[in-house]
Amino acid sequence: MDGPEPGARLHNLFAFANPTRPDEENATMTLEAILAYLHLLAILTMVVFIASEAALCRVEWLNAAVVERLARVDMVYGIAAVAVLLTGIARTLWGVKGTAWYWTNPLLHLKLGLFIVVGVLSIFPTLNYLRWRKALRAGGTLPSDVEVKKTRKLVMIQAHLIAVIPLAAVFFARGFGSK
Ligand code: HEM
Repeated sequence: MDGPEPGARLHNLFAFANPTRPDEENATMTLEAILAYLHLLAILTMVVFIASEAALCRVEWLNAAVVERLARVDMVYGIAAVAVLLTGIARTLWGVKGTAWYWTNPLLHLKLGLFIVVGVLSIFPTLNYLRWRKALRAGGTLPSDVEVKKTRKLVMIQAHLIAVIPLAAVFFARGFGSK
């Protein structure tokens, strides 16, 4: 057959990773790096969009355009959160340490628990933004100051909880909590 052997082709593909390492190891580390990147990309997107919500959801700024914008920003935040969950699960399935190593560590459960709390808290602002948008489109009304302040508080709690999750993550990744 023409062309390089499949093994040689694989070698060419991963040789840049570390030419002194066996191909299989290079392939594993390349997958590990890609999974880590995707997880970080999703986290960064999530953080950028919760920060945008925090910046926009203020009594001083609220007008019709901001109500429309908040609903859209929140939709991207939700999609990013799903991506964080999926890429996190992907790391446990295909990461170098093996599925059992990840799932038997209580720090992963702590991470997931905090993430679920953030997810539950996020439901209320989402429902509020959609209701505000509906009222705006139907009758041009804007939410009351009290409602905006309450919603902002929930956004701020989420933002601060998200900041704690990497603390569990970095210790988890370095084997703390594993038997
Ligand atoms: C906002 C939510 C999250 C944040 C901020 C976050 C943050 C991080 C960070 C910073 C790392 C890299 C740690 C390091 O290598 O030093 C990491 C790794 C990881 N995360 Fe997340 N994560 C989040 C959600 C999740 C979820 C929901 C899961 C899965 C159910 C998950 C599973 C993992 C796994 C398996 C690793 C690899 C750990 C290792 O290499 O041993 N993460 N996360």
